[in-house]
Amino acid sequence: MITVKKTNEIAKMRVAGRITGDALKYIEERIKPGVTTAEINAAIHEYIVSQDAIPSFLHYHGYPASACVSVNDVIVHGIPGDYALREGDIVSVDVGVVKDGWQGDAARTFAVGKISADAQKLIDVTRESFFEGIKHARAGRRLGDLSAAIQRHAESHGYGVVRAMVGHGIGRQMHEDPSVPNFGTAGTGVLLKSGYTIAVEPMINAGTFKLTIDNDGWTARTADGSLSAHYENTILIRDGEPEILTL
Ligand code: MF3
Ligand code: CO
Repeated sequence: MITVKKTNEIAKMRVAGRITGDALKYIEERIKPGVTTAEINAAIHEYIVSQDAIPSFLHYHGYPASACVSVNDVIVHGIPGDYALREGDIVSVDVGVVKDGWQGDAARTFAVGKISADAQKLIDVTRESFFEGIKHARAGRRLGDLSAAIQRHAESHGYGVVRAMVGHGIGRQMHEDPSVPNFGTAGTGVLLKSGYTIAVEPMINAGTFKLTIDNDGWTARTADGSLSAHYENTILIRDGEPEILTL
């Protein structure tokens, strides 16, 4: 069941979304060589708590941290630890927040110091594919329009679009209906309505879309060892342009 959010609920999602987006800005300034992924997680945890909000990922299905920190070939769900970032790495940080019972979810991929032109292009195209997708995120369009636009942009650069994990509806729960794939067929799928809130999150590999999961049960890596980038925002569907709640 897809829920239409009421005006007062949307107001609360804006607050949760702002904290989520601000947590990512807070961490962006702190990403540099030598910083460990555990330090990134700790900083995000403290930031969220300082806003009287709750980190939604912590203990979610047993997930052990408040952020996912995914380096280089890790696509998503990297568990923070003692790895220290190195110049030239790319690092995806995914953050979820609950404020006053409502959720925000967003992710960015950051450069660590100076990175290769290829890595920067992957980050840029992943972000662009999100914005290509949300051109179709408006009442009256179908979800497949959004999915197909993301896929088309990423694949036009020769990249692999992850299939095994997708975006999602979001509201009181982090994961609600509908599923929001980053691949699909225009003109098909759920009819979008004003008041739907969804997390759109392309996960794009420099190589093929295939992935493996580490023995920790979480860490998703590219099967071919290629780099991967992630870009996610929580958005509100409206009659016109969508509102991005987590910028
Ligand atoms: N943004 C991710 C998602 O939509 C975050 C979930 S990570 C978890 O699924 F640790 F909380 F599971
Ligand atoms: Co998400």
